[in-house]
Amino acid sequence: MSGFVEKPEPVEVPGLVHLHTGKVRDLYQNEAGDLVMVASDRISAFDWVLPTEIPDKGSVLTQLSLWWFDQIADLMPNHVLGTELPPGAPAEWAGRTLVCKSLRMAPVECVARGYLTGSGLVEYDRTRTVCGLALPEGLSDGSELPAPIFTPATKAAVGEHDENVSYEEVARQVGADTAARLRQATLAVYGRGRDIARERGIILADTKFEFGFDGETLVVADEVLTPDSSRFWPADQWEPGRAQPSYDKQFVRDWLTSAESGWDRKSERPPPALPQQVVDATRAKYVEAYERLTGTTWS
Ligand SMILES: Nc1ncnc2c1ncn2[C@@H]1O[C@H](COP(=O)(O)OP(=O)(O)OP(=O)(O)O)[C@@H](O)[C@H]1O
Ligand SMILES: [Mg+2]
Repeated sequence: MSGFVEKPEPVEVPGLVHLHTGKVRDLYQNEAGDLVMVASDRISAFDWVLPTEIPDKGSVLTQLSLWWFDQIADLMPNHVLGTELPPGAPAEWAGRTLVCKSLRMAPVECVARGYLTGSGLVEYDRTRTVCGLALPEGLSDGSELPAPIFTPATKAAVGEHDENVSYEEVARQVGADTAARLRQATLAVYGRGRDIARERGIILADTKFEFGFDGETLVVADEVLTPDSSRFWPADQWEPGRAQPSYDKQFVRDWLTSAESGWDRKSERPPPALPQQVVDATRAKYVEAYERLTGTTWS
């Protein structure tokens, strides 16, 4: 079992048509045909969208993505058209809403990894490969890879797992030329993100991009280089051979898998509400990631 514990209702705004409720974002179309993307405070873990929100999470993700779009603007165009609230939108949408170009999305989660962990580590432990790419012996959880790699995944529906696929499989699905462009863009933007994060004491272990096409032009869409789409590790605590502390949902995952939550991941039951201290600690992690990366204070 997985999915939404409580499926949120779309907001009725005159002039906007609701298109889709994602795990985190609600998508609408405005009268100009552009996409209105509203990042909620929802949080997902273990393929569930939890019944508890993390205050400010949606605006932190949105503001951090905007900051990154600027940092990578010379590498790639992005989908943002504006940040003005649509007329009649609720005040809570301020800071978390982007008006975006509606793109023909590439059906691939474009992941770059500079370090080994997560599903990459699972595959490596079995076969010494990640997405079919051969890696050297002797790597462990958190090891830096000899060079960053493109490890695409298929896009899964809410409640389902993304699945790692080989580059050849992507090429079969989208064509060799598009696959090559996706890989090149993924590694270029990852490289920029890694370098900037590193200067700020953060390791960008891996990250996921979603790209779309505006005509023939490849455009970076969705969110970029946020704690939801990336693994950020404090550089001064990096120590391969164990799970790394990270700027994200770690408190949520740890609590849900602890005896205290009373929840069994393998059961059919939905996860319970999060206690206040887990909410507060998680909010603080998102804010800390924003502040360390941008060098500005969250207010
Ligand atoms: N410019 C765009 N044009 C069209 N679709 C977009 C654009 N930018 C983002 N999207 C889509 O909007 C949705 C954003 O919602 P959300 O982040 O909640 O995604 P999700 O796919 O449900 O979850 P996750 O990001 O965890 O996989 C995604 O389906 C994404 O592909
Ligand atoms: Mg998303």
